[in-house]
Amino acid sequence: MCGIFAYINYLVPRDRKFILDCLIKGLQRLEYRGYDSAGIAFDGGNESPDVIKKPETKIVKKKGKVRALEEELACEKDMKLDIEYDIHCGIAHTRWATHGAPCAINSHPQRSDVNNEFVVVHNGIVTNYRDIKKVLESKDYVFESETDTEVIAKLCKYVYDHRENEDMSFRELVEVVIAQLEGAFALCFKSIHYPSQCVGTRRGSPLLIGVKTKGNLSSNFVPILYRDNRGREFQDDVAYNREAKETGSSVEENNKSTDSAFKRSFSTTDFEVSGDIKAAEYFFASDASAIIEHTNRVIYLEDDDVAAVMDGCLSIHRMKKEEGESMSREVQTLKMEIQQIMKGNYQYFMQKEIFEQPESVINTMRGRVNFKDKEVILGGLQDHLSEIHRCRRLLFIACGTSYHSAIATRQLLEELTELPVVVELASDFLDRRTPIFRDDICFFISQSGETADTLNALRYCKKRGALTVGITNTVGSSISRETTCGVHINAGPEIGVASTKAYTSQFISLVMFGLVMNQDRISTRSRRNEIIEALENLPNLIKEVLEMDDDIKKLAEELYEQKSILLMGRGFNYATCLEGALKIKELTYLHSEGILAGELKHGPLALVDKAMPVIMIIMKDSMYTKCQNALHEVTARGCAPILICQKGDTESQSKASRVIELPGTVDCLQGILCVIPLQLLAFHTAVLRGYDVDCPRNLAKSVTVE
Ligand code: AGP
Repeated sequence: MCGIFAYINYLVPRDRKFILDCLIKGLQRLEYRGYDSAGIAFDGGNESPDVIKKPETKIVKKKGKVRALEEELACEKDMKLDIEYDIHCGIAHTRWATHGAPCAINSHPQRSDVNNEFVVVHNGIVTNYRDIKKVLESKDYVFESETDTEVIAKLCKYVYDHRENEDMSFRELVEVVIAQLEGAFALCFKSIHYPSQCVGTRRGSPLLIGVKTKGNLSSNFVPILYRDNRGREFQDDVAYNREAKETGSSVEENNKSTDSAFKRSFSTTDFEVSGDIKAAEYFFASDASAIIEHTNRVIYLEDDDVAAVMDGCLSIHRMKKEEGESMSREVQTLKMEIQQIMKGNYQYFMQKEIFEQPESVINTMRGRVNFKDKEVILGGLQDHLSEIHRCRRLLFIACGTSYHSAIATRQLLEELTELPVVVELASDFLDRRTPIFRDDICFFISQSGETADTLNALRYCKKRGALTVGITNTVGSSISRETTCGVHINAGPEIGVASTKAYTSQFISLVMFGLVMNQDRISTRSRRNEIIEALENLPNLIKEVLEMDDDIKKLAEELYEQKSILLMGRGFNYATCLEGALKIKELTYLHSEGILAGELKHGPLALVDKAMPVIMIIMKDSMYTKCQNALHEVTARGCAPILICQKGDTESQSKASRVIELPGTVDCLQGILCVIPLQLLAFHTAVLRGYDVDCPRNLAKSVTVE
């Protein structure tokens, strides 16, 4: 929810146009996270930075998508675009409204006062903002927005105006401010009192820093600075060195290195650029997609880290040193390519992602499934397999599409593991405060790895001593970092709000987990072999299904003016119906329901008549006869359903109004082939209805609020 982007250049001369373009581009990359309004803050005034006496911050905000903000900026009169800044900090935000309707005044950056002394961009929710607001109002602070964020900016000014120590740093000020906040947040601050500095921090919401320098880094670790009880900063050198040595770098080695771009400065323990060229650029962002075109070197902040960029140096601070926590943050090198987050020849990200599935499923299996020897290895789980085998039960906890991937594979996991398998919606799981035991194994499935409900469920299970396993698509995400072990689904960045390729890759990851658990069982060898062979052929079959795109488009042309669409199926395809209905409702805003065909008689059949559009999934698996019964029940009410069936199933086809014939595969993987026509149907229907497929109304890609 919401996207944060900040750009700081130090001794890299950039004109204002470049800076504004960079901020806007960063927001565009994050737009899938929220798109009801956007705003930026940068150095104002038209004087050259060399002669400026009083720094100014200019804020421009606009309701609507980032494009609208860009147009607004273009209309700004009296703004020189060619002013060059050697040092500058700009912050930007794209919003998904939680507190206050989408409008310019509620969008971010929020400010401390009419002079914009402190400005802040925020992702998350401050739960105690009413209390803080009351206190500040009693001190004559006047609020202009309905947001929770505005209290943060005003609190900055309050702390600054009442500071006892004239030398209070920007970072220290932010630490005082965030100590008052409850809830979840990622924040970036800019201030005229601390020109060209940027402070960023997070608690429960992702934030990372991209670093760009001319040379190479000597060390891949930024040490954490703590405060002792007299308020002095210290670094745990012993622990840091131990940790760094384990990963091949240490403080001494850092300082010895001469050809490096970064090294520890002697005075501050900050990281800075060494040698004569001190130039550096820093990027703060909610996720790596906004940064990757500038640099692939990133540092993921942990909860309660406060990162400050000052005079080209980056330092990371924490208030308290907790037992066992890491002494440093690693500078990671991302493998993501810029092309992966571009639309290429497609009109929409969602469309591109649907068509990427033949490759994304291969990437999920790459290096894990040995088709020749019929073996599956999941490196991330290897060390924990004996514990998993000994468990009481397996729990799969997730939201939305990720939840559906667990429903889709539950039956197979029960079959292959012979363990009780429980699938839970994260929010409901938490509402019930479900009992969890030390010998439970809890899986958390999440494309983004940041979904608040799933993350909270993970923390809940961790506290109760269960082994936690992450199934995520986002390297460095909170869920991937906080789980004991896990599987990265390797689907590649998914930008479209509607999840498509992540679903099929989650599905395959869970199937692979089942196969790993079943590896040593001789009695089920033929079943295992059958599944592994089907996995090998799956990418080709997905390609075959995607070739039906034109037919599906024609079907969408017949359906797009309807008011409701029901989807029915059972067994391995119940989840397909749930997932298809979710895609239809979130993109087309039509009512759509996924119905377990076995439940028809218990209520939903009352919805069925001649006029009701029904899609039925009937595959040649063990549910075939039962599905035929459902087909009769529906046709007896005058309805001729649209049928998704296996090639050559003439018996079912005779009762349908329209048929989508699919290639067959093994029963437990058929759901992957069946869901693709539904993804395409939702996509085409939404386009025909004139909606923005990548940014459906009221939704955002990453739901980091409860
Ligand atoms: C699916 O199309 C959705 N946009 C949504 O249901 C999503 O799957 C859900 O919010 C969970 O997200 P996650 O996988 O990132 O945790």
